[in-house]
Amino acid sequence: MHDKKEWFRGAKFGMFVHWGLYSVLKRGEWVMKLDGIPTSDYEKLAEHFLPEPGFADEWAQLAVRAGMRYAVLTTKHHDGYCLFKTDTTDYNATVGGPRRDLVAEYVQAFRQAGLKVGLYFSLGDWHFPAYKAVAEGARERTDELRTFMHTQVRELMTNYGKIDLLWYDGAWFDGEYLSAGILDSAGLNAMARELQPDILINERAGTTEDFVTCENECKPAPFGTDWEMCTCMNDLWGYAEHDYNYKTINQLIFLLTNCAVQGGNLLLNVSPMANGAVPPMQRELLTAMGNWLSVHGDAIHGVERLQRPFFGGGRITRREGKLYLHTFYWPGSSLRLPDLTADLLGAQPGKAAVKARVLTNGQKAATRWDGKVLIVDELPPLPPDRANTVIELSI
Ligand code: GLC
Repeated sequence: MHDKKEWFRGAKFGMFVHWGLYSVLKRGEWVMKLDGIPTSDYEKLAEHFLPEPGFADEWAQLAVRAGMRYAVLTTKHHDGYCLFKTDTTDYNATVGGPRRDLVAEYVQAFRQAGLKVGLYFSLGDWHFPAYKAVAEGARERTDELRTFMHTQVRELMTNYGKIDLLWYDGAWFDGEYLSAGILDSAGLNAMARELQPDILINERAGTTEDFVTCENECKPAPFGTDWEMCTCMNDLWGYAEHDYNYKTINQLIFLLTNCAVQGGNLLLNVSPMANGAVPPMQRELLTAMGNWLSVHGDAIHGVERLQRPFFGGGRITRREGKLYLHTFYWPGSSLRLPDLTADLLGAQPGKAAVKARVLTNGQKAATRWDGKVLIVDELPPLPPDRANTVIELSI
C-alpha cells in the first residue's frame, strides 16, 4: 500500500526558511511585536522587500548541496504579511512590495530540484484586525477570523500544485484563545486533506495529525509517532545581522545524527536577507553538512528507529542489514562493543561473521569476537572525521 509518510520517514534532513518583511529590519522575525512597531510603519517595509530574481533556485541548490530532502517556507509569519497571492488582503507580496508571488517561485524551484515542498502558515496574525479583537474578547468576530484563515489555507492548498507538508504555527502566544475550537482546526485540516490527499500536517493547530514537532531541543516522540525537531544554526529564525551565536559544524552533525537515530527529522533553519540571499555563514555550514552527508548519507537517510541506538563512542543506526557506528568519541585503533544483541545484529553475537570498514575513508578494519564482545581492530588511531567518523558493520 502507498504510504504517504514514507518520504518523511526517510528524509531526516530538511530546510526551514524564515523570510518576510522582518528580514528588512535584520533583527529577527518577532521585531514588529518586540519593538512595538505600529502596523502602518511596518507595512512600509514591503517597499524594501525586493528579492533578486532566482533567489529560490539558489535556496533549492543549497538545500540539495546540503543533503536535505524537503523544505518548509514561512508563507505567512506572525506579522501577517503573505508571500502569496490572496484575495483576503492586499497585505501580500503580489500587491505591495515585490509584486511577485514568492510562494509560487519557491514551490517551483524546490519541486524542480526534486525536493518535497512544505508550507509554514502562522495562525497568529498581528496585522488582521479580527485577530486582535477576538484575542481581546470580541468572540462575535470569531467567524470573520476563521473565514480569513480558512480562505488563506485553501488558497495555499489550491494554487500551487502538489504540496507535501503543511506546517502550522503561532496559535499560542495570545493566551489560550486561539484554540482548535475557535479555529475549527478539524474542519481546516479536512479541507486541506481533501485538496491535497497526500499532505502531511503538523500538530500546531491544536489537533493530532501526521507528525509532532519539537523546537530547539531533541525530544523524540514515542515509538509509532513521527516527529521532527526544528532549530536555527544561530539563535533567531528571521534574519538577524548581529546574531553571531552559531552552532559549530560538529554540533550540527551531532544534532542531525541524534535525531536520525531516534526516528526524527532535523528541520534546520536558514534566514535569508531581504534580497533573498542566504547569509555566508549559513551557506558555509550547510555546505559542510553536505560534504559530510555526501560520504555518510547511507548512515543517515532512510535509517530505522532502534530501541537502543547507543554505544560507548556514540550512536548506532541501521539500514539494509548494515549497522553504522557514529563515533563522536573516537576510541583509538581498537573498539569494543559489549552490548550487541541478536535483535540489533539480526544474527547471534559471538558467532556472526561481521565485516567492518570506516565509511569515512573506506579503510577496512579487522573484527573478532571475544565471547560476546565484538572487537573492531586496525582502526586509524585518530578519527578521519572529527565531527562524526562512521564505522560500517556488515553482517
Ligand atoms: C516559535 C516562534 C516563531 C518561529 C517558530 C519556529 O513559534 O514564535 O517565530 O517561527 O517558533 O518553530
